[in-house]
Amino acid sequence: MKRLLLGLIVITSLQANAQQKSDAKMKTYVDALMKKMTLDEKIGQLNLLTPGGGVATGAVVSKGVEEKISKGQVGGLFGVIGEAKIRQAQELAVNSSRLKIPLLFGSDVIHGYKTTFPIPLGMSCSWDMPMIERSARLAATEATADGLNWAFSPMVDIARDPRWGRIAEGAGEDPYLGSQVAKAMVVGYQNGDLSKDNTLLACVKHFALYGAADGGRDYNTVDMSKVKMYNDYLPPYKAAVDAGVGSIMTSFNTIDNIPATGNKWLLTDLLRKQWGFKGMVVSDYTSVNEMIDHGLGDLQAVSALSLKAGLDMDMVGEGFLTTLKKSLGEGKVTQKEIDDACRRILEAKYKLGLFTDPFRYCNKERAANQVLSEKQKNAAREFATKSFVLLKNNQQALPLKKTGTIALVGPLANNKANMLGTWAVSGNRDLSIPVFDGMKNLGIKEVNILYAKAANISDDTIFAKKVNVFGTRIDIDNRSAQEMMDEAIAVAKQSDVIVAVVGEASEMSGESSSRSTLNIPKSQQKLLQELKKIGKPLVLVIMSGRPLDLNWEMENEDKFEKFKGNYLDVENSPLIPFGFGLSYSSFNYSDIKLSAASLNTTGKIKATVTVTNTGDYDGEEVIQLYTRDMVGSIARPVKELKGFQKIMFKKGESKEVSFTIGVEDLKFYNSNLKFVAEPGDFKLFIGGNSKDVKETTFKLVK
Ligand code: NOJ
Repeated sequence: MKRLLLGLIVITSLQANAQQKSDAKMKTYVDALMKKMTLDEKIGQLNLLTPGGGVATGAVVSKGVEEKISKGQVGGLFGVIGEAKIRQAQELAVNSSRLKIPLLFGSDVIHGYKTTFPIPLGMSCSWDMPMIERSARLAATEATADGLNWAFSPMVDIARDPRWGRIAEGAGEDPYLGSQVAKAMVVGYQNGDLSKDNTLLACVKHFALYGAADGGRDYNTVDMSKVKMYNDYLPPYKAAVDAGVGSIMTSFNTIDNIPATGNKWLLTDLLRKQWGFKGMVVSDYTSVNEMIDHGLGDLQAVSALSLKAGLDMDMVGEGFLTTLKKSLGEGKVTQKEIDDACRRILEAKYKLGLFTDPFRYCNKERAANQVLSEKQKNAAREFATKSFVLLKNNQQALPLKKTGTIALVGPLANNKANMLGTWAVSGNRDLSIPVFDGMKNLGIKEVNILYAKAANISDDTIFAKKVNVFGTRIDIDNRSAQEMMDEAIAVAKQSDVIVAVVGEASEMSGESSSRSTLNIPKSQQKLLQELKKIGKPLVLVIMSGRPLDLNWEMENEDKFEKFKGNYLDVENSPLIPFGFGLSYSSFNYSDIKLSAASLNTTGKIKATVTVTNTGDYDGEEVIQLYTRDMVGSIARPVKELKGFQKIMFKKGESKEVSFTIGVEDLKFYNSNLKFVAEPGDFKLFIGGNSKDVKETTFKLVK
């Protein structure tokens, strides 16, 4: 053991030495380059533009981009898609600008690039971290083959209000699961070595707390205690930093009334000083300019404030480009602040190998072979399979029999326009395979599929217009609602089983797409009510970018309790507990065995259960570990996720599953923001979701 430890120490110190050497080499290179740079050229590096014509992700499009590139006034571009276009822009930078500094090329590679994977919220439902890492690795391979070197992902904003449209883009509500996903994504994109031509600079966003917008309304104010911030909202960003993420994007919201983009506590004290982040920080789309609306001053003032807070790169707004020189002259910012920001951007370019070869990501052959390759598409299919969540399976209606007649109905059953989900800015919807085609492609001769659209996603034309900003997602049929319904009912009556594919259009979630209610639109609710009356087995396939209110669909009972935190007019307990998901099989959990009844601050406890597949199918189960700190110096959660394992069990198979708990797992931020574990009694739970658990107790002793 000692020898092994010694071996590890030698390797670690060798790695540290190698890192120091390569950092020193980078410093020498960047120092020499910066010596040649004028003030204007340094400020130019801090400018990130989007020329339009490619992928539009915001209201403003940059003007005079070519001229600015030639003048050395641009550090990077985004929204330019395709190897050829990227090469063209890079040629301009390295042939026309005085110092030939290559550009960064970013994009919102959110859930895949051209090959689109399930939305991040769906991916997180898989609880499959190796798969999530692989999805980011594949996205990086494909995007870098097409010229890109920077992904504006992962989004790790904890989101607890499903009305917020961008809940689709992250891993949901849980800090532990969110942190695991953040790490997997960063590792997948960067793969520990940005100098490779198939790795992308990841950009964790939106720093910070963007998912906690008041009322779930996008861009709204965030107001939160520091204790909640540290315990619940910051962990995923921290996990991304610890995993070595190379860049960070600030958020639109305020924190303690100071916009994140100009928040020195956030960008310098917390991010750089406490967390030791060494990469570059980019604003969100015109978020520097939006500080004017927040009442923080004019463009010059907010730009200076942002630079001083620790922002390095200004996305689209050109506040840095147009005002920093003046601010320097007036003593409002320092040369060092400009130099530091410029250095961090040049370092990112250096790490990506752009100074060695600005065209290393522009390789026609790679683009032709790797973009939308069979390997990518097969992976997308596999990921989709693993991200579905089965909520209910009465009378084992699923899996469907491979004989008989299926009535496939609903506005999303044969709908290419909505298959990719929100934030699939580079995906081609025409290439997607809707459920109808997917079923037919199985080619099962004994199955007869009858299709009817049955309803519009929504009948509301004003609502549809708002959703259809990027193209038609809600397509209102020429036929009347009654005609469509009649057709569906006729089809359903001829079938053995009805499969209704319903839910939200893709752009009913995403940026600037918050909803005040969480229902399936009325047109589809009516459809489901009518289908239910037919009395045949009814399978709902729900597509959505957020958790929906499925009380009626799940036949839920209301348990109102006076003098408890209830709403009067809706069901109060969670309809589906966190971590829930069925498989076609069923699982039994034994009682928990602990290796000891207590642990001290250096010890560990092993908790073991035997899990048995008691059903008729092989199946995967996500075994989850939760703890509860029974008495604390602050109010503590009733259950906290602390670990999980996704394991495949053959039919009838039993396996022992163990988790090891140490003092680190029991720590939290107390009211002085100290990360502590407090001795005392704890509960420990293991189960297949957060509600149906086995439980035991243990003590933490000094
Ligand atoms: C605004 C979004 O908030 C951000 O997530 C995205 O990366 C940028 N636009 C660029 O498209």
